[in-house]
Amino acid sequence: MKSDSDHTETERNPSGSTSKVGRGNAGNATKLALGRGLDVGTANLVSGAQDVDGNVLIKIQRNAFIDIERDDYTRNMLTRLNVQYVVIENRMVVVGDPAFELANIFNRETRRPMKDGFISPKEADAMPIEKLLLENLLGAPTQENEVCYFSVPAEPIDAERNVVYHQGVFAGLLKKLGYNPKPLVEGHAVVFAELAEDDFTGIGISCGGGMFNICVSYKSIPALTFSTSRAGDWIDRNVANVLGIKASRATAIKEKGVDIRKPRNREEEAVEIYYRNLISYTLENIKTRFESAEGMPQFPEPISIVFSGGTSLVGGFIDVCKDEFENIKFPIPVKEIRLADDPLYSVAKGCLVAALSEA
Ligand SMILES: Nc1ncnc2c1ncn2[C@@H]1O[C@H](COP(=O)(O)OP(=O)(O)OP(=O)(O)O)[C@@H](O)[C@H]1O
Ligand SMILES: [Mg+2]
Repeated sequence: MKSDSDHTETERNPSGSTSKVGRGNAGNATKLALGRGLDVGTANLVSGAQDVDGNVLIKIQRNAFIDIERDDYTRNMLTRLNVQYVVIENRMVVVGDPAFELANIFNRETRRPMKDGFISPKEADAMPIEKLLLENLLGAPTQENEVCYFSVPAEPIDAERNVVYHQGVFAGLLKKLGYNPKPLVEGHAVVFAELAEDDFTGIGISCGGGMFNICVSYKSIPALTFSTSRAGDWIDRNVANVLGIKASRATAIKEKGVDIRKPRNREEEAVEIYYRNLISYTLENIKTRFESAEGMPQFPEPISIVFSGGTSLVGGFIDVCKDEFENIKFPIPVKEIRLADDPLYSVAKGCLVAALSEA
């Protein structure tokens, strides 16, 4: 299994459109190798494909939408702003990144089809919209029934959820688009994307919006996988609570250049405190689970721990991971703690690696 990520091209907002599927979508512009990857995330949906020259093509869209009353004023405004929309049940629906921009203009929140890593119970009827987003990102398969690996969360250790329904719904959407859907546990995808040089042995961690997903892998076989429901959104909710601000404001503070080694004010201090807590919670859980699980492989060589996902993008993240690592007695010898090359795209790349090796 080999990932060719020498050359990665990325595109956000490929067509910005639900009605122009085909323009700028992965299926039509370039000749592609068979096999696709899809990262199904609470915050972002990311697709991965590889062209025949071995370049990896990544597309990313916010997993969000907004619906607006259908009237002439709004229609004219959307046309003027060059924002594509579809009409569903007499409402104008804008999906993906443009929905985010519109939410700011209208001073509203976007609607989110997923919460804490799973389909949101509040937005279960948003699945036709999710299908539009997937259509924009993936386009049609090059060949009917082309393999598409998609990420699913591992079973959470701190929430009463299971992945059966969530996985079934996304498999169904991908089938409708003409793909042969195959689930891949999110942490395992990080191992495929980031640990090729270590013979796929080590720990892959995806630090997302809704969850952290962890996979301890030995020669590409997962020895331990689990997820926790504390992640980026958890930081935002808590920071918002203690500061008495809106969660969206907390997100903005967190994403706009905080360095958690050097907080400059009370707000950034709150971000730092929750980040440290989250990182030590994650490492402690790996330790406890590893020690209590049966049949764990022996790791003869020290391993690498690789962090990926949007939540790992904050300034100083890896240094704080190293600090917190020093505070616990970890059960496996570790040679390196590092950040993925492209933290936001790791999971999609790992799904792509799995798909290419099978196709
Ligand atoms: N520069 C940044 N600094 C800190 N956090 C960031 C930054 N950019 C994005 N994030 C956070 O990353 C999170 C989204 O990450 P990601 O796209 O990996 O999640 P996801 O895969 O959609 O979610 P999940 O895997 O939990 O379902 C959000 O909480 C967002 O606030
Ligand atoms: Mg994710």
